[in-house]
Amino acid sequence: VTIRRATIEDMLCMQNANLHNLPENYLFKYYMYHILSWPEASFVATTTDNVGDLEVGFEELASSSNNSTSSSIATKCDPCYVRSGEKLVGYVLAKMNDDPSAQQDAALNGHITSLSVMRTYRRMGLAEKLMRQALFALSEVYKAQYVSLHVRQSNRAALHLYRDTLEFEVLSVEKSYYLDGEDAYAMKKVLDTDE
Ligand code: ACO
Repeated sequence: VTIRRATIEDMLCMQNANLHNLPENYLFKYYMYHILSWPEASFVATTTDNVGDLEVGFEELASSSNNSTSSSIATKCDPCYVRSGEKLVGYVLAKMNDDPSAQQDAALNGHITSLSVMRTYRRMGLAEKLMRQALFALSEVYKAQYVSLHVRQSNRAALHLYRDTLEFEVLSVEKSYYLDGEDAYAMKKVLDTDE
């Protein structure tokens, strides 16, 4: 599996992976907004093998949550090829905070919009690698002083990755942040600009 910077050609497969792995989905133009505005911030994991091509989405979410509607979303996964022979198996979609209400003198901050790895390719360190690349790019290229993200309180895998592996801190709990009413942890990591 190779980790490389995401390009415009990867956007459809990133959206496909996002639809497969997460209930938080975005219009295609939002992916384009990311890649056109911050072309060096997002990364993909790709492979030329054919392992996991028939995997099913959402089992983890369906079995770990009480939301009985989740299981009805399960779909067979068609592999998504970004170019001949190269299948996308993970991505991190990242940006800088461009909220116009942010104060001008506020610290520059990066944001992780979405991260996911296809089921068959999990527990191999891919999410950690994708995140470290994005954190480095946000810091080096876009001069982010810290990076923020939101994660479901029930998402043990992602929480472990953010809190224990990558040393994000929990800033606050945002009540009913998600459409199904679940609360989010708002997390933040201050970037060491000397790294
Ligand atoms: N339970 C506990 N710990 C876990 C789990 C798990 N299911 N999965 C990974 N971890 C730990 C690993 O052991 C590792 O810890 P270590 O550093 O102590 O060894 C660490 O998390 C990183 O593991 P990776 O192998 O890099 O993670 P992976 O590639 O498996 O991807 C991810 C993790 C992205 C959360 C994956 O499970 C996934 O795609 N889940 C569905 C989508 C999702 O929840 N995305 C995050 C939403 S939040 C957001 O997008 C901002």
